[in-house]
Amino acid sequence: MSRPSVLSTHVLFDAPRKRLAEHFDVDYWNGPERPPRAEVLRRIAGKDALIALLTEKIDDELLAAAPGLRIVANVAVGYDNIDLAACTRRNVAVSNTPGVLDETTADLAWTLILAVARRLVEADAVARSGQWRGWNLDQFCGTDVWGKTLGIIGFGRIGQAVARRSRGFGMRIVYNQRHRAPEAVEKELNAEFLPLDGVLAQADFVSLHVPLTPETRGLIGPAQLAKMKPSAFLINTSRGPVVQEAALAEALAAGTIAGAALDVYEREPLIHDGLRRPNVVLAPHLGSGTVETRTKMATMAAENLIAFFAGRRPPNILNPEVLGRARA
Ligand code: DGY
Repeated sequence: MSRPSVLSTHVLFDAPRKRLAEHFDVDYWNGPERPPRAEVLRRIAGKDALIALLTEKIDDELLAAAPGLRIVANVAVGYDNIDLAACTRRNVAVSNTPGVLDETTADLAWTLILAVARRLVEADAVARSGQWRGWNLDQFCGTDVWGKTLGIIGFGRIGQAVARRSRGFGMRIVYNQRHRAPEAVEKELNAEFLPLDGVLAQADFVSLHVPLTPETRGLIGPAQLAKMKPSAFLINTSRGPVVQEAALAEALAAGTIAGAALDVYEREPLIHDGLRRPNVVLAPHLGSGTVETRTKMATMAAENLIAFFAGRRPPNILNPEVLGRARA
């Protein structure tokens, strides 16, 4: 019996490759960069499944190029790269990778908080350049993190993991999200629910953890930045388009806020020139970027495919209504 054919737009890691090899014939894209769109469209024709990264746009054009495609396993928790409604219309199942990257992404948010507050990137550049002339009292003085107020926008699994880490820093936590968290969670994390404007006005560090949806696109613009304290920092490890980059660049230039630390951008891999400032830490979208976590994410994607083709419910399916329906 022939095995389902899979296109994987990345070579993945050994563990998920072994799992996939047990069940499927896999065509791996193994170029050093992301595959060109035309190459994805060419290779997807005739495939039964796709393992995609968040850099692949899964839309009507791709679905039309893949009449046999039955499932897309996204190697990411965020799935704003996928037109879920279009997949559902054509009875193509979609899965993501929730849960496994929460702690790792929270670690990166904290890396950014500490790096921007303590001016680590600026200081590192001087230390490694050979220009450091020795200790001085006012050299690279940053701002304290401990004892300050951390504002979390989007208080799901990752937002809460960020809050949990703040305990060792004796911080006050204020948060906002569409639905207030259960009382037990607020109590455990000593977190206070505030309207968005309240979080922006009170926090010394505003950390974003919302998914990208039509409601959150452009959530942080000129009006929101104007609400922040001039001493406050904006941290973004969610999705770039949640922040209006031009407005952020203007706020930084005007000194409306003290700085920013960013892992994600509006038009990756492009970065707005106005963000290349000493008081901005720039990371290249590596929130979940540890070998352990990325391996778990890819393995999860493989397990979703295995379950699907075995006639079981994929554990992380986003549109279960398509299960059992023929490809449209
Ligand atoms: C995700 O899973 O959505 C992350 O952005 C990947 O790092």
